[in-house]
Amino acid sequence: MMEVSEQMDTYGLKASDFGKDFIWGVASSAYQIEGACDEDGKGKSIWDTFVHKKRFLIPTVITHETGDVACDFYHRYESDIATIADLGFKANRFSLSWPRILPEGTGKVNQKGLDFYSRVVDANLKNNLEPWITFYHWDLPQKLQDKGGWLNRQIVEWFGEYVDVVTKKLGDRVKNWMIFNEPLSFCAGGYLVGAMAPGIINPFSFMASVHHVNLCQAKGAEVVRANVSKSNVGTTHVIAPVHAMGKSGFHLKAKESVHALMHRIYIDPNLGLGYPFGLSPIIDQVKRFIKDEDEQNIKVDFDFIGAQYYSTTVAIPVPLLNGVPTKPKRFNGQDADMLKSPVNPKGIYESVQMLHEYNRFKNITITESGFSCYDTVENKRVIDLRRVDYVRRHLPEVLRAKKDGIPINGYMYWSFMDNFEWALGFRPRYGLIYVNFETLERTVKDSGWWFKKFLSQ
Ligand code: FCB
Repeated sequence: MMEVSEQMDTYGLKASDFGKDFIWGVASSAYQIEGACDEDGKGKSIWDTFVHKKRFLIPTVITHETGDVACDFYHRYESDIATIADLGFKANRFSLSWPRILPEGTGKVNQKGLDFYSRVVDANLKNNLEPWITFYHWDLPQKLQDKGGWLNRQIVEWFGEYVDVVTKKLGDRVKNWMIFNEPLSFCAGGYLVGAMAPGIINPFSFMASVHHVNLCQAKGAEVVRANVSKSNVGTTHVIAPVHAMGKSGFHLKAKESVHALMHRIYIDPNLGLGYPFGLSPIIDQVKRFIKDEDEQNIKVDFDFIGAQYYSTTVAIPVPLLNGVPTKPKRFNGQDADMLKSPVNPKGIYESVQMLHEYNRFKNITITESGFSCYDTVENKRVIDLRRVDYVRRHLPEVLRAKKDGIPINGYMYWSFMDNFEWALGFRPRYGLIYVNFETLERTVKDSGWWFKKFLSQ
């Protein structure tokens, strides 16, 4: 297999050009890879519920697939982690399933669940992979959803308890923590447009979920810092640079409104900048959920901010709403991934630049970036040169940003292996490792071998 790596053309790119302290990693999440949905005392999450539901007689996951088994990482973590290390990565970003640890969301701890993550941490350390843990990558305990989930303000206490349990167990070995994965995706996806669990569509209460998440950012960081010495605490956000469709005031206003809805409502309050009122009637709904003491309790000084970049966005002007986001249309000759997101390498520069313009973030870590495409499987070789092409076109933009003084300290590819892509099932494949979902056999793709060569130079 080594020969495949050696044959790869790295187009003059070398990991060493990014500096010796640059963090090279991969990212994944619990629900998308673990499986073992009801094993060893695990409670149900909102995703366990959502994938088995039907709406208007149509399954929520159109392909009828579920993450019940997913990649079976729960039983195969040792070899999977060894493979990540073999490809040359030095960091592994993964998330914990809250209901595996606290089946009811609060109260009684499921020791077997906590022990599983302890073994996963040890397996990373044994392979010289630095663990980067996300507390919440969308799989809320169903028992807490039954009490309103992110719409219930009590979640700040529930979340604090969960972070406390986890950090007391793992904080002796894990220093890097991310409070959330992409609040935009699970708040807007889950409580505004209903495409993600728990599938609620409600423009009036949606901002309650955003506000409670923002309070939990601060609460979570406070608990980590109390329990873990020398911690590196941050959070992650989808950063999709917003472009205007035209030059008129109407278009520019739509752009501001979409930028506020996609980024500012999740970032500004934690920086003590408040909510961007007046840009969208949806955002203004938050006033109903803010209490006096929140202004102080929402501020958080993160050690790093995670930028997750896939594609850019265009703002469509809409009367009354100002603007709503869409992915830009593909123009002639422009490449796009399986989800029709256009490939725009300059966008990764724009996204970290946008964060840097806040002038508040000490470190910006690219905690996700990746590409889904159809892979060709030929005699045990998986050819995915379009993914290689995606990576080799984005990395120079990351390096350019770093050279321009933007404090980027790492890049994590999404994802190390193909996995369950939420409501889209198993079809979109983002992995560096191919997973045959019938047999669960893994095969390193050409892109994985490409990274191996790039990282060795
Ligand atoms: C990101 C999510 C991740 C995965 C990738 C493709 O938005 O954080 O779980 O779905 O997209």
